[in-house]
Amino acid sequence: MEEKAKQTFYVTTPIYYVNDVPHIGHAYTTIIADAMARYQRLKGNKVFFLTGTDEHGQKIEKSAAEKGLSPQELADRVVVRFKDLWQKLNISYDYFIRTTEKFHEQGVQKIFKILLDKGDIYKGSYQGWYCISEENFLSEDIPLEAEGYKICPDCGRKAVLLEEESYFFRLSAYQQALLDFYQSHPRFVRPPGRMNEVISFVRQGLKDLSITRTSVKWGIPVPGDPKHTIYVWFDALHNYVTAIGYDWNPEHFATFWPADVHLIGKDILRFHAIFWPAFLMAAGFELPATVFSHGWWLKDEAKMSKSKGNVLDPYFILNKVGADALRYFLLREIPIGQDGNFSHQGFVHRINSDLANDLGNLVQRTLTMAVNYFDGLLPAVTEEYEIDLELTRQFDETKNKVYDLYNDYALNRALEEIWFFLNAVNKYLADNEPWKLAGQAEKRDRLARVLYQALCSIRGASYLLYPVMPETAEKIWNLLGEERKPSTIMTSQLNFYDFQPVNKISRAKAIFPRIDLAEFTGDTNKSIEQTQPAIKMETKESKMEYITYEEFKKMDLRVAKVIAAERVEGTKKLLKLQIDLGTEQRQIIAGVAETYSPEDLLNKEFIIIANLQPAVIRGIESQGMLLAAEVDGLAIIPFFDRDIPPGTKVK
Ligand code: MSP
Repeated sequence: MEEKAKQTFYVTTPIYYVNDVPHIGHAYTTIIADAMARYQRLKGNKVFFLTGTDEHGQKIEKSAAEKGLSPQELADRVVVRFKDLWQKLNISYDYFIRTTEKFHEQGVQKIFKILLDKGDIYKGSYQGWYCISEENFLSEDIPLEAEGYKICPDCGRKAVLLEEESYFFRLSAYQQALLDFYQSHPRFVRPPGRMNEVISFVRQGLKDLSITRTSVKWGIPVPGDPKHTIYVWFDALHNYVTAIGYDWNPEHFATFWPADVHLIGKDILRFHAIFWPAFLMAAGFELPATVFSHGWWLKDEAKMSKSKGNVLDPYFILNKVGADALRYFLLREIPIGQDGNFSHQGFVHRINSDLANDLGNLVQRTLTMAVNYFDGLLPAVTEEYEIDLELTRQFDETKNKVYDLYNDYALNRALEEIWFFLNAVNKYLADNEPWKLAGQAEKRDRLARVLYQALCSIRGASYLLYPVMPETAEKIWNLLGEERKPSTIMTSQLNFYDFQPVNKISRAKAIFPRIDLAEFTGDTNKSIEQTQPAIKMETKESKMEYITYEEFKKMDLRVAKVIAAERVEGTKKLLKLQIDLGTEQRQIIAGVAETYSPEDLLNKEFIIIANLQPAVIRGIESQGMLLAAEVDGLAIIPFFDRDIPPGTKVK
């Protein structure tokens, strides 16, 4: 596989519209990006993983108005939902860009101005059929309906005829340059079928693109002509350069640009494979290496839509089976590029067969034997047979294949190879029957060797699995007493026999309990707008002292950062704190003045209950309560051992 000399890796997801809460389609792209980012970090590469939200434009303006909110308020609320989901799915993004951030708006205006001065943007007038929902003028070859209007081919809604003064991007001038570029970079768009689609579209001829609106207020103003706002796609695509430092951190920008891969859904291919490279060429940027277009997730073979009520709520699945099972299913089921079908039957089957049986049982059985027969401490191993070496060789082959497949974005094939190997380990145990060896005193060395081989296999597989199933890998490392390795273990240091038999092994409970289809089907039609369904407690009758998880989940615990602090006059105990909660600022009154001065707390972060009913203390409103331990009458605040983004959920 061809490796880039600079050893950096820049991966992006689309930035998501904030007119709706996240669903499984958003989760899919973001999980792919996360697996790629984690794999690249394990290789020792310097990674930048970008995601975020697309907050301007008519669609957001309209949706906010329907909800009685300002567009900014709507965006602020939905952003919290995205960030919360990404946290629950263990998405390790480096930055979450919001297109309403100042630096982005300024960057877009700057590029607009450069293209205007250069003549690649010019002012004209545009008349066309415009789809409000898709924020797009329809292509002119779409025929008129008998009733005299056009229907948007993407969403099926009626388009409206618009004529407005508009700035245009000279897309037509880039037709040949684009075709030349595709020819010299045949893997620019992947999978290959999508590249062909793009080429034939461009060959049919490109028209200049209207890139401003006078009808939309909620957008970035055109520099020097503020009655126009910049078209949301021109604005949004440039997030990929503004987020990494264009116009504000040239060194960081030069480190990561051009992007290695833009991951997108097939519906937004044209924007990324035609408009985006043309904008970049015009502004003199290098072009990204790859635009990888993934398929569409269907629910029981049907397109998901709110009106059908069949949109899959990722929280529902997450709460039932955890992040790793969902990550595994989505990445294992289909190659990136094909459409996938989500059925509860298929999901339950895959989790039970691959995760509960093949992986979970293997780990549990092997660790239990190591604990039962050797008290968790294997003796140094000696004897080694061909059958043992065969397993070692299989691991090495698997490892190399998996690296190649990860390098090539073939995540489902990589997982398949890991599972072939896990099955080989299961077979190795069946062939060597350690449970029989355990009854024979003279076979003690052999027993140790067989378990050692299995443990080395489990450890090795856990590193290969880490990009897709990070929580599971960590769980396995903890059980094996494995010290967390430096980030380069994967490609340079992952050796089968590096597992130390002297590590104390812990007894494993089922790491993936089997799931029952009945638990899923009852709730399939839960609306995505509903709050997350609580997990059923598996315990017997709750006693008085217990609260249910559902009750606990009602508490909105958040990380708060102190941005201003002062004493409440006339009191010994009270401080008035202004805190940053990521998406908003609040004031709280805290009884901590006997332990901390206002200066002590400035810029400190701690946990608050954000949804506690506001209270008035000494005539001042307190909008939340911080958590502290009380020791001899003094309040001691638990602080964090690292900086955390304000607003992060604590659970
Ligand atoms: N805001 C634009 C992207 C701008 S990028 C500069 C946008 N946002 S979106 O929220 O509508 O969609 C984001 C992504 O979600 C798209 O890549 C789309 O393909 C993906 N998905 C939405 N529904 C999906 C499925 N059912 N299945 C898989 N992915 C789908 O477009």
